[in-house]
Amino acid sequence: MINPEHNQYLVSNYAPPPLEIISGKGSYLWDSKGSKFLDFTSGIAVTNIGHTNSHWVDSVKKQINELVHCSNLFSIPQQVKLAKRIVEKIGPGKMLFCNSGAEANEALIKFSRLVGNKTTENNRFKLLVAENGFHGRTMGALSATSSPKYRMGFEPLLEGFEFAPLNNIEAFKSKIDKQTIGIMVESIQGEGGIRVASDEFLLGIEELCKENGLLLLLDEVQAGIGRTGEFLGYQKSGITPDAIAIAKGLGSGFPIGGIWLAEKWGNIFQPGSHGTTFGGSPLACSAANAVLDIIENENLVDSAKEKGSVFAKGLMNLKNNYPNHIDEIRGRGLMLAMVMKAPPTSLIENMRDLGLLVVGAAENVIRFLPPLTVSESEMNDALRITEAALQKLCQKPIK
Ligand SMILES: Cc1ncc(COP(=O)(O)O)c(C=O)c1O
Repeated sequence: MINPEHNQYLVSNYAPPPLEIISGKGSYLWDSKGSKFLDFTSGIAVTNIGHTNSHWVDSVKKQINELVHCSNLFSIPQQVKLAKRIVEKIGPGKMLFCNSGAEANEALIKFSRLVGNKTTENNRFKLLVAENGFHGRTMGALSATSSPKYRMGFEPLLEGFEFAPLNNIEAFKSKIDKQTIGIMVESIQGEGGIRVASDEFLLGIEELCKENGLLLLLDEVQAGIGRTGEFLGYQKSGITPDAIAIAKGLGSGFPIGGIWLAEKWGNIFQPGSHGTTFGGSPLACSAANAVLDIIENENLVDSAKEKGSVFAKGLMNLKNNYPNHIDEIRGRGLMLAMVMKAPPTSLIENMRDLGLLVVGAAENVIRFLPPLTVSESEMNDALRITEAALQKLCQKPIK
């Protein structure tokens, strides 16, 4: 049973299982009763370097002793270092830091409005966004999110967003009008159920943007920071965006987000036009710099690709063994989904009871998001537990 004080003192916008997580190391979490869990949630694609990595912990501790916060009233050396490292991984441009994925997308949306107002004669402002995407819970990011389940009850939302199905170039093309300023998509939809934007589609929208003078905006909040076997998910396709939102894995647990703006747009935000008190603090940037150290030193981007293909093969075997339950395996790198033929709630519970934590997503999807540091034996354990949970499910009628 969940601690009754949880429900007494916390707003009921989450519905956690009766599990109190109190510590973590590498790919494992422990609860308050001492039970150990293999964590294939990574805090929803955040702790990409695993829990309490010693280099990360030492860097954060060192920074806490030196300086935690001073605000963007001043130049922050850790921020400059982080911006340079990210720019070198993406391409010529500049960074603006904030605190979360939603906030990064707010900055992307504000960027598009600024471009529309400053550079187009008719102040274009509409963004064309993929259906089934997820961009966050703030009013702008929510307005860019099509699913009624997130929007319901919060209307009226911001005007200026239109939606078209992912991977359907013709549908995107047909929605462009004189007020459209840009197109915004995730390279792999995370909350939407690990739906991969095909290279053909990404190249197609790049072309559409070029033809119509539109901005190409990418939300790499979930698919970014090595998870898909590229530093950012879109990089496999070879497209050149105008702006990108990142967050989640960047701090590997310390809240930090940011946007990258292509060189051409690097000076569009002028002093006073946008800002945040906490964004890019010395502490947040030290955490993120430590994440990049670990990703680089341990070659985690390339290894995510290799480990992902091994794990995906294991999931495919399960699909072949349980064709009545599993519909499809999809995703890339260590951002993988097992698409079930029925709602997966009881399967996820079975997996948890057997010591494996995973995340659900839209459309009967179970997401496997292990840390990029996951070992082969941990992946084998996860497959073994998933199979045992499926066997347990087979003993009962499908819910
Ligand atoms: C693709 C994407 N964009 C934005 C967000 C919002 O990020 P945050 O929860 O940090 O605000 C998420 C969160 O799941 C996401 O998956």
